[in-house]
Amino acid sequence: MCGIVGFVGNVKAKEVIVHGLKKLEYRGYDSAGIALNIDNDIKVYKAKGKMENLEGVLEGKELDSNIGIGHTRWATHGEPSDVNAHPHSSESGDIVIVHNGIIENYLDIKKGLKAKKIVSETDTEIVAHKLNENYNGDLLDTLKRTIDEVRGTYALVVMHKEVKDEIVLAKKGSPIIIGTSEEGNIIASDIPAVLKYTNKIYILEDGEYARVTKDEVQIFDKKLKLIKRDYIEVDMDEKTAEKDGFDHFMIKEIHEQAKVIEKIVNTKKLEKVKTNIKRYNKIYFVACGTAHYAGLIGKSILDRNTNAAVFAEVASEFRYNEPKIDRKTLLVVTSQSGETADTLAAVRMAKEKGARVLSFINVVGSTIARESDEVIYTMAGPEIAVASTKAYTSQVMTMILTFSKMFGKAVDVVNESKELMMKFDNVLDIEGYVKQLSNKYKDVDRAFFLGRGMDYNLAKEAALKLKEVTYLSSEAYPAGELKHGPIALIDDNTLVVGIMTDERLYEKTISNLKEVKARGAKVLAIINDRNDLVLDVADDVIYIPKSQGEFNAVLANVPSQLFAYHMAVAKELDVDMPRNLAKSVTVE
Ligand code: M6R
Repeated sequence: MCGIVGFVGNVKAKEVIVHGLKKLEYRGYDSAGIALNIDNDIKVYKAKGKMENLEGVLEGKELDSNIGIGHTRWATHGEPSDVNAHPHSSESGDIVIVHNGIIENYLDIKKGLKAKKIVSETDTEIVAHKLNENYNGDLLDTLKRTIDEVRGTYALVVMHKEVKDEIVLAKKGSPIIIGTSEEGNIIASDIPAVLKYTNKIYILEDGEYARVTKDEVQIFDKKLKLIKRDYIEVDMDEKTAEKDGFDHFMIKEIHEQAKVIEKIVNTKKLEKVKTNIKRYNKIYFVACGTAHYAGLIGKSILDRNTNAAVFAEVASEFRYNEPKIDRKTLLVVTSQSGETADTLAAVRMAKEKGARVLSFINVVGSTIARESDEVIYTMAGPEIAVASTKAYTSQVMTMILTFSKMFGKAVDVVNESKELMMKFDNVLDIEGYVKQLSNKYKDVDRAFFLGRGMDYNLAKEAALKLKEVTYLSSEAYPAGELKHGPIALIDDNTLVVGIMTDERLYEKTISNLKEVKARGAKVLAIINDRNDLVLDVADDVIYIPKSQGEFNAVLANVPSQLFAYHMAVAKELDVDMPRNLAKSVTVE
């Protein structure tokens, strides 16, 4: 949450920072701002709303500076506004900072401040004043002494007007990397911000500090002892983070899924899995949002193949449900970003109690990836749209392949995966039809997604996708449960989508669809079979190719992704950056 970019180098800082912030806008878009050191004077520009507003403020300004910091915000403390936008300055304007995270004791620090003028409602501004009070001519030492007084999470990046050749930073709990290039050194919350210039990246760990000049990146431990660290070269380039002719990242990412599956199958069939699943008698799948729904599919595979007790919980609740964790417990974590705060907290708790952590992560080198006992990378490539699509597919696919290896069924699964790749293209062929349906149903008041068994898990992901990009009230229910209350909401402007991939359950789900149809609902069926009963009840039917077991979760999810996308387009909403959301949720 929140995107940070800092630059010091040989080219105009404004260009590098604005470019980077646009790449990080998926992390939050409540406001944006930039601070540049111009001839020992710090100039700050901010704007509420998306980056285009900040670009409007900067337009026509000749800002000649090679050093600066910038921020795109997802509001926590204080409403989205110009004044609450980062960068925040000390009263004198000498020090300017950007921050991602939450300073928990900011009210205590505020009480002791000498500064008279506190202009924003943010926790971050308090730190700017504190830094100014602690300033002793050595910016890094000042940052360390200030951090010693702070409790909370932070990626904190600091500039001083008299120190016009260096930026200092500290990290705990929020990600920050430094890309090193010929043009200079770029600090950023995530890799896409630096890919235009470099793929050589330093990753900072919790408790570490860095001093960045145009020629050097120095990393220090928590006592400010210099650490020797090499950069890593990431296997990504700028193009992988571009729209590539598509109107939005979301639809580009939906279309990329066949390639992602191919890459996963070709790579994972050769990779060894170290975790011996037979050693565990309790297995918890823990994650948030879409990643949790992918975890539900993982759970269903293990339910069928192990004697262990298998649970799946959302990470934000897991710690409070008093899970019984010991050395015979395996925690299976799914996360696109590898930075989700609740998921990370669950990992740390489980490890402390002796569990093994096996994680399925997309972002290489992310915190959860680094802290897991074993990480399986899900290889989806950068996912920019806030609504997750290809990351879900990649998580389900890597779990299918990984678990099948554990159970000695890898060969069958690889063959089935190859068929899946072909079927996947057929599913994408229905896009035109799904678009028509989206236009037909765009004005419904609410939507329900119904399913039984694994189809209920698919319904959860489908309902989340639709609500996050269209703002429609959209809920998933086990098909048989609707009549125990929610059926009261059904009227003739309600859309009910029935998901049916398990022929053993068709008839029962179709009966439930009849119940809502009788009460006026419009019924859309997603099914992997030609079936007369469904034609009798559904206003519209989307057919998908039939597949084996959990592979259905990969195929049957695509129509729901396309439906959510085209509904949002039909409603003229901002598909890639839906209101109130951020891609990477790094606060609990
Ligand atoms: O980065 P993660 O996979 O850990 O993120 C988890 C959720 O925040 C994420 O899946 C969220 O639900 C998406 N916006 C859903 O599209």
